[in-house]
Amino acid sequence: MVIFGAAGDLAQRLLMPAVYDLAAAGLLDPGLAILGADHNDRDAAGWRSEIGDALHAFAAQPGSEFHTKAIDEQAWSFVAERLDYMRLDFTDDADYDALAKRLQHAGNALFYLAVSPRFFETIAAGLARAGLFDERDGQFRRLIVEKPFGRDLASARELNAKLTSLAKESQLYRIDHFLGKDAVQGIPALRFANRAFEPLLQRDAVESVQITAAETVGVEERGAFYESIGALRDMVPNHLFSLLTLVAMEQPRSFGADDLRDAKSALLAAIRPVAPGDAVRGQYVAGTIAGKPVRAYRDEPNVAHDSRTETYAAIEVRVDNDRWRDVPFYIRTGKCMSAHVTTIAITLRAPAGPLDAQSGGPQLLLLGIDPQRGLVQRFAAKRPGVDLRLGGAGALFRYDTTFTEPPNVGYETLLYHAMCGDAALFQRDDMIDHEWSALEPVLDAWGHPSDDPASYAAGSDGPAAADALLARNGDRWLGVAPLETLGGTAPVSG
Ligand code: BG6
Repeated sequence: MVIFGAAGDLAQRLLMPAVYDLAAAGLLDPGLAILGADHNDRDAAGWRSEIGDALHAFAAQPGSEFHTKAIDEQAWSFVAERLDYMRLDFTDDADYDALAKRLQHAGNALFYLAVSPRFFETIAAGLARAGLFDERDGQFRRLIVEKPFGRDLASARELNAKLTSLAKESQLYRIDHFLGKDAVQGIPALRFANRAFEPLLQRDAVESVQITAAETVGVEERGAFYESIGALRDMVPNHLFSLLTLVAMEQPRSFGADDLRDAKSALLAAIRPVAPGDAVRGQYVAGTIAGKPVRAYRDEPNVAHDSRTETYAAIEVRVDNDRWRDVPFYIRTGKCMSAHVTTIAITLRAPAGPLDAQSGGPQLLLLGIDPQRGLVQRFAAKRPGVDLRLGGAGALFRYDTTFTEPPNVGYETLLYHAMCGDAALFQRDDMIDHEWSALEPVLDAWGHPSDDPASYAAGSDGPAAADALLARNGDRWLGVAPLETLGGTAPVSG
């Protein structure tokens, strides 16, 4: 495995912990070698100790996304012994020739582009020119491309055309790391392996669906990157459409790469292009999160003082097929919000009949993706007493208390699948096309903003304009709150 961008944040913070987790789970082939490639000068020992230090620090850091709390030194040695480093100038053909030389006895090779998107084409072209995509004698050559894949429909198509001219589609693994999360892969499992949920997931039973990815972090050190991307491109056509797809798609014929991606692609193709009037953009101003003052987005490093980049986006999406016609899907994402929660909330229609079903409060299916992973079903139950009165009740399933297997950061699953040649969890070119197509009208409108984004205070739940978006349909956002609170299953004191 060759990691381009070996010295970068992604490699250190997410990829190498995932490699470690795979080693600890005994899932790596002893023949594996990992070559870090980056443009800075350092040697293998230097890279190894950087990775080792970072890994141990993440394990010790409370609340880090790396769930391993004590490093198994044997598993770490397994990884460390396999790490090597090569200085490589992404734009220099001679360096790719040198890489080809190093890999001449490698057999299979997986190239991971953990670099800024502006290098995707350059690196792929360098690899192709040096013959590194040639698959001989049953050996594979695969390229993992990180998101964002393009910045709109035209650029994504251009990138696709370029990559598919250099390598075969079957060699391309376009990553959306949400798809590696257990709770995300768990969505089709809940739907299609149970009687309880799937019959509800259609327009007669569902009033609306809300998909929320709220973060408490701001843009951290990524101001320069984020300025050119914004919340919509960063989260929606990839991560949040992936969640939408898994909730709304038809049952695939199998979970193999073709069938699963056919089912997803069909759903994505049914998304009606989102009109600018069905979208709200926001930007955080100074506020307080967990008692700590937070500066405004425009005061973050490498951010323009008059920036109009959105740090929050909310859209109303319609899926034009028989199952979902007229059901609004509301999607929102934002930085510096009141809490870190990724959830899917499906509001069910209360049944008609002699019981006042509404009096039990909203009836919901809530899927928790992060940080609480699980499911809450919120329903009406009879209150104890002589009268037939209803109250809201909830049932909670949590992955962490139900199963004993350790959680992972998501990249483990994706790396493992890429190594095994299973592309089911990766994005196919037609899916990317549909995702950008659905957002084209909004991207066009937001590309030339005549006004500033709506502001929201850091630590709040987003701008008021987003509330107005739902109010048009008589709907309201659920609070940005943990699963148990939303589902009403948190123990009530007293
Ligand atoms: C990344 C985005 O793809 O996903 C980040 O670029 C975002 O801005 C992150 O913070 C969220 O992922 P997770 O797994 O932390 O929810």
